[in-house]
Amino acid sequence: MTDFPAFLSALGPQVDEALDRLLPAAGAEPASIGEAMRYSVFAGGKRVRPALVVMAGEACGAPRSDLLAGSAAVEMVHAFSLVHDDLPALDDDDLRRGRPTLHKARGEAMAVLAGDALLNHAFEVLAAEPASAPPERRLEAVGLMARAVGTAGMIGGQVLDLEHEGTASGDGGRGREGAARMLERIHRLKTGALIEASTRLGGIYAGAGRDGSELLGGIGAELGLLFQIGDDILDVVGSSEQLGKTAGKDREAEKLTYPHLYGLDGSRRKARQAADRCLVLVEKLPAGRQIFRSLVAFLVHRGS
Ligand code: IPE
Ligand code: IPE
Ligand code: MG
Ligand code: MG
Ligand code: MG
Repeated sequence: MTDFPAFLSALGPQVDEALDRLLPAAGAEPASIGEAMRYSVFAGGKRVRPALVVMAGEACGAPRSDLLAGSAAVEMVHAFSLVHDDLPALDDDDLRRGRPTLHKARGEAMAVLAGDALLNHAFEVLAAEPASAPPERRLEAVGLMARAVGTAGMIGGQVLDLEHEGTASGDGGRGREGAARMLERIHRLKTGALIEASTRLGGIYAGAGRDGSELLGGIGAELGLLFQIGDDILDVVGSSEQLGKTAGKDREAEKLTYPHLYGLDGSRRKARQAADRCLVLVEKLPAGRQIFRSLVAFLVHRGS
């Protein structure tokens, strides 16, 4: 299959089945925490990151059965990041995936704990699955994810994102060049690191080796930047209904974003440049080039 939207529709139920199998069983005690985790996970996310694990793994020869547990773990990490990103202390959002955010629906304490639980559960899965994989591969997967979410990855990016809130109205003393460098760094960390980990993870399960991992990492890093520039653009041009989250929040919070710094046309140019850098790398893949090209086109044109 070479069309990304069709690939995503076909894969979605398989990822959901893996999530359902791997999350704490519905009704397991204490039932409230499992229910809160499932509330956030099964709310209709696009499942782009799980798709990347599968696409990268299959491009390097892994069977799908070896990729689904890891892809579900990545989605758990992503769901954690959304639950905590929406908390009043962070972005303070009321709407996510078309539903009230978890802290609105179940209270702030449960949202903090469910986020923690989703992150921990992802590591439990990465350490145990696939059971047939050599233990070194599972260890590598755990280390990769820990770094991707850590202070030099997503959490570092979230910290910088918060620290630069409110600086959008001035240049924070750095000048335009400095602000541009900081903005790219924030996006590569807060969103790019997990997307890069997704493609690398597929490579680990495929036994792709160091060169394969570097290639997949480069592809994931550019996809990650492209993804977050798109997210910034959608915050300006999208509606809350279309996005399933409150539109226009970045401007209200004076976030440092691509549209703020470059305008909409300039942001689209920056997105195109990241897409082009990605496409150059995609040509070096041993297989699966067409589905990756289709993914890049999807991300350039996406409406949610
Ligand atoms: C939203 O990610 C948060 C970002 C990192 C930009 P997605 O746009 O993938 O959200 P879902 O998973 O489809 O809800
Ligand atoms: C998302 O950035 C980054 C993470 C969740 C790690 P945003 O704050 O822009 O994501 P949305 O727009 O709330 O989905
Ligand atoms: Mg945020
Ligand atoms: Mg947010
Ligand atoms: Mg956003």
